[in-house]
Amino acid sequence: MALKNINPTATNAWKELTNHFNDIQNINIKDLAKDVNRKEDFSLNFDDLSVDFSKNRITKETIQLLVDLAKEVDLKDAIEKQYSGEIINVTEGREVLHTALRSSSEEPILVEGKNIKPQIQAALRKIKSFSNKVISGKWKGYTGKSITDIVNIGIGGSDLGPDMVVESLKHYKNQLNTHFVSNVDGDHVSEIIKTLNPETTLFVIVSKTFTTQETITNSETIKNWFLKSATIFDIPKHFVAVSTNLEAVDNFGIDKKNVFPMWNWVGGRFSLWSAVGLSISLSVGYDNYKALLEGAEEMDLHYKNEEFDKNIPVILALISIWYNNFYGAETEAVLPYSQYLKKLPDYLQQAIMESNGKGVDRNGDKIDYQTGTIVWGSTGTNMQHAFMQLVHQGTKLIPADFIGYKESLHGLTDHHNKLMANYYGQMDALAFGKTKEEVHLELKFSGNEDKIESLLPFKVFEGNRPSNAILFDKLTPRSLGKLIALYEHKIYTQGILWNIYSYDQFGVELGKELAKKILNK
Ligand code: F6P
Repeated sequence: MALKNINPTATNAWKELTNHFNDIQNINIKDLAKDVNRKEDFSLNFDDLSVDFSKNRITKETIQLLVDLAKEVDLKDAIEKQYSGEIINVTEGREVLHTALRSSSEEPILVEGKNIKPQIQAALRKIKSFSNKVISGKWKGYTGKSITDIVNIGIGGSDLGPDMVVESLKHYKNQLNTHFVSNVDGDHVSEIIKTLNPETTLFVIVSKTFTTQETITNSETIKNWFLKSATIFDIPKHFVAVSTNLEAVDNFGIDKKNVFPMWNWVGGRFSLWSAVGLSISLSVGYDNYKALLEGAEEMDLHYKNEEFDKNIPVILALISIWYNNFYGAETEAVLPYSQYLKKLPDYLQQAIMESNGKGVDRNGDKIDYQTGTIVWGSTGTNMQHAFMQLVHQGTKLIPADFIGYKESLHGLTDHHNKLMANYYGQMDALAFGKTKEEVHLELKFSGNEDKIESLLPFKVFEGNRPSNAILFDKLTPRSLGKLIALYEHKIYTQGILWNIYSYDQFGVELGKELAKKILNK
């Protein structure tokens, strides 16, 4: 049975939310914070994760009405359909089963009548044994030397997920150096090649279709470069592929034994949990890769089983809808206070914007309400010295997720205390601002009484700018898995509420077609 098709704006809950918004739109976070129980009432804890969403323009009634909306569009039914392998990617006629890739349960999941769990387990075993061989040095290149460098060749979902995770887990990496080539701009591949020795480099070509212009062009260029010093018989030792297109992979010269599977029931941007994540397993070892999957599974179970008002991805999705559809916020910021997570915003841009950037509903009708949020961001504290001026004092409302860790990975306590003081300081500044009176006193007592009149308006912070504090104990493969799965489920929740299909991406096709035509001319 297909997903339900309910226009959210036609629901009772939406009407009530509209009335509620009219009543409370001028509410101030500072006033709300006077309630001593606010932080406790507007926080959720799950294992090593706590989410404080108290610094939002919401009341208990707001949450209740948003939860009513989720119930009225039958989000529960949609979640069940995703997990059980129904064809919820209707426009492409596919199941959406990235959650199956990290499921440790024995319960079968059927695709076209066949249980997919054994294939998933077999792929994991293959990833494990291959990673072990390469990392231990047993896998030899064409001159008998061990591998030192891995190059992932792919684009979009076949690049952004693995690249982000490898960067985020750099602390856990082994001796292998991992590189990513994606852009069809020859400068990208040229710069990477410059640093490599063909005798000790392993290329992982990741392409579900094995027809993507960028990936094929980069792979051919790299193969030609490789063949300047090696022969075609050496290709199997240096090139492996992750793909569904076995024929094209074979034509490229890759040994069938070195092909890792991809499946149509996993979308590109949700595929890092499949063999698309091979470069992750190579970079941090299979056990860490498995821990990443386990962390994601923990979040999957939370999302599947928890009541909506205690469900972290659901609550974050609902709050985001509140700003997007009622306050008219145009963008959202993702601000990790960890340099390791510097690639998270790029990764989330594809995951969120390719999924929910849709203007037609599940009926095929043009939508007259706002859908997909624009997401952007960068790491703290760097961004405080870059774009945060606009977030603090600009004219736009920009809800922000602040992602932080209680513990530092390198034990530099002084750095970490400063980092986290900034993490909390930014959220307080956004929420509570600085009043005219405070600025007045500050200028007076700093010996600048004569400047009060001219400077005061510029130094006032209105405040009332929302944020969520997403705080983990420590950056580990497991907690990263949880974080990524959290955003995946937020995406799906929003797609369901907006009555769109989150798992297709026809919007990327026209540009590709036209580029081909222009190239042929
Ligand atoms: O950009 C569109 C897209 O189809 C993504 O969804 C996908 O991740 C990427 O291209 C790469 O596709 P492939 O893995 O087939 O090379």
